[in-house]
Amino acid sequence: MQQSVRLKSFELFAQDIDGIDVNLLHALSTSVGWPHRPKDWEMLRRAGKGIVAVDGIGRVFGSAMWFPHGDDFATIGLVITSPRTQAQGNGRWLMERVFAECGGRHLSLNATRAAYALYRSLAFVDEGIVHLHQGKVSAALPSLPRLNGHFEELAPGRLAEIAALDLAAFGVDRLPLLELLAEQASIRVLRRDGVAVGYSMCRAFGQGHVIGPLVASNDDDAIHLAAVHLEAFGGRFMRVDTRSTGAFAAFLRRNGLSVTDTVTTMSKGRRFLNEKPGEPMVFGLAGHALG
Ligand SMILES: CC(C)(COP(=O)(O)OP(=O)(O)OC[C@H]1O[C@@H](n2cnc3c(N)ncnc32)[C@H](O)[C@@H]1OP(=O)(O)O)[C@@H](O)C(=O)NCCC(=O)NCCS
Repeated sequence: MQQSVRLKSFELFAQDIDGIDVNLLHALSTSVGWPHRPKDWEMLRRAGKGIVAVDGIGRVFGSAMWFPHGDDFATIGLVITSPRTQAQGNGRWLMERVFAECGGRHLSLNATRAAYALYRSLAFVDEGIVHLHQGKVSAALPSLPRLNGHFEELAPGRLAEIAALDLAAFGVDRLPLLELLAEQASIRVLRRDGVAVGYSMCRAFGQGHVIGPLVASNDDDAIHLAAVHLEAFGGRFMRVDTRSTGAFAAFLRRNGLSVTDTVTTMSKGRRFLNEKPGEPMVFGLAGHALG
């Protein structure tokens, strides 16, 4: 009897992600070691659009999503191909489908090491490095800088109060996304003289909680906007994705959130990042896929 058998190769078809059983998407992300829960996939599906690569009997072998903000910009994420099908053209095919769906939009994404060469070959250029800080939060917070302003909790219905601040930091109006995140987030606003100068959201994600978006104009404000959530999470798992490498990042490390990975922020078309010292900027990302 033969000791091996060569199976016939199979064909993959693109399907809208909305029609796919969320447990199949969860199995796909788990196969590449990602922490997304089925609930996280559900939220991402509501936030954006996407396609999956399925075979003739509905098994899922890949995904790619995009999150449009207005008519001329989108972020791309959740680009995954199952390990068994990698390095055979599946990822490139999914990306080309996404380009067709996104029309002429300017694009941005956060590239893992595995995907970097693919995106470079698709004309994405580097803009910055995102550091993934995560771990169990220290039992007691280290001493904080002096608080300049006061905190308020923001109800989801009052997001208009931070819309201008977020636009200044992110560069594109993403209020519909913030509304969606706010459904499951605790939101704090930092005000000085009545004016919102920073905000942060904290929500369940993956194996714990994530702080993001976090928008502030300087490290001290950003530290307070993280601390206001961290103080309730001693001993629990938290994550912050940041491009900051200064005092804010040092504060996260002192709290038990060490850097476990990095990804590269890339863009295609108009430059995406436009940070200026002293002006509002994104200290904590909403999520890798969300920019
Ligand atoms: C990144 C990923 C989606 C690529 O998918 P894929 O199906 O392997 O992609 P393709 O087969 O279309 O390969 C595209 C390019 O990637 C590069 N590449 C893929 N596999 C490679 C390997 N094993 N070694 C070196 N380069 C490789 C090549 O540059 C290839 O270019 P080519 O088309 O000229 O050969 C896949 O590796 C993956 O899911 N990784 C884990 C999750 C992840 O990191 N996703 C990216 C999120 S930003």
